[in-house]
Amino acid sequence: MLRVIVNGAYGRMGCEVMKAVWNSGDMELVGAVDSAGTGTDIGTLIGVAHTGIILENNLEEMLRRLRPDVAVDFTTPHVVYQNCITCIKCGVRPVVGTTGMSSGQIQEVINLSQELGVGGLIAPNFAIGALLMIKFATEAARHMPNVEIIELHHDQKIDAPSGTAIKTAEAICEQRGDFQQGLATQFENITGARGGKFNGGIRIHSVRLPGLVAHQEVIFGGLGQTLTIKHDSINRESFMPGVLLGIRKAMHLERVVYGLDKLLFD
Ligand SMILES: NC(=O)c1ccc[n+]([C@@H]2O[C@H](COP(=O)([O-])OP(=O)(O)OC[C@H]3O[C@@H](n4cnc5c(N)ncnc54)[C@H](O)[C@@H]3O)[C@@H](O)[C@H]2O)c1
Repeated sequence: MLRVIVNGAYGRMGCEVMKAVWNSGDMELVGAVDSAGTGTDIGTLIGVAHTGIILENNLEEMLRRLRPDVAVDFTTPHVVYQNCITCIKCGVRPVVGTTGMSSGQIQEVINLSQELGVGGLIAPNFAIGALLMIKFATEAARHMPNVEIIELHHDQKIDAPSGTAIKTAEAICEQRGDFQQGLATQFENITGARGGKFNGGIRIHSVRLPGLVAHQEVIFGGLGQTLTIKHDSINRESFMPGVLLGIRKAMHLERVVYGLDKLLFD
């Protein structure tokens, strides 16, 4: 059994991860950390009777005491970098879904993990369907280079566009090289009507509404035809197969890897 703790356990994703680990069959949930909800039996968060696993608020102390194999992190952007460093220094593999680390911070985490020989994963998107969407969109761009992206998320998301939309646009640009799309000059009657302008004239449109979770359409246009590649995360369960896969794969890594796609497709 893989011994797992969850950091950010009182949050929306943390609770979902605890449920997934609890029901996995090959993992044991041994601890839960959050700055909120200290003292709560996690049974009340995952819908089972008394578990005896009590929410605590000191990550490092828990890592040293319980010596888990993996620490899953779904906390917040301002603490995730330090959490990764703490885990690696304690010899515990971080599996991180929290977004917001800078590329410099990610590189520092990878460097430290390599130096200390501790595996792990930082994955900005754990939905396997979303990773396939990016892969298929990249392939489509070889043949249909004119493309726009519409990403749609719940109205509590503060950043736009989504990291997944940016990653999709980057992958398409890499595939189609110097290609430039769209008119050289155009004007908007309402500012922003044509969306955010990415490299090569790719436009990214961000929709924010209650009722949505995380969705994206990549629309390709060619002569007399369009192709739409669409992915929907209908609920937070959509991320769980990727999280469990990441935990299992992290056990065989000797450094932190950035992107679940690296473990799925490479
Ligand atoms: N990688 C993915 O596939 C994926 C999917 C969904 C969300 N996310 C990201 O996961 C993160 C969490 O999302 P969420 O919707 O669960 O947020 P949330 O606000 O519901 O949960 C975050 C939790 O972290 C806790 N927290 C804050 N500071 C802490 C600290 N110092 N130590 C311990 N716990 C602390 C909060 O109390 C809260 O319970 C966000 O960064 C979000 O963008 C990633």
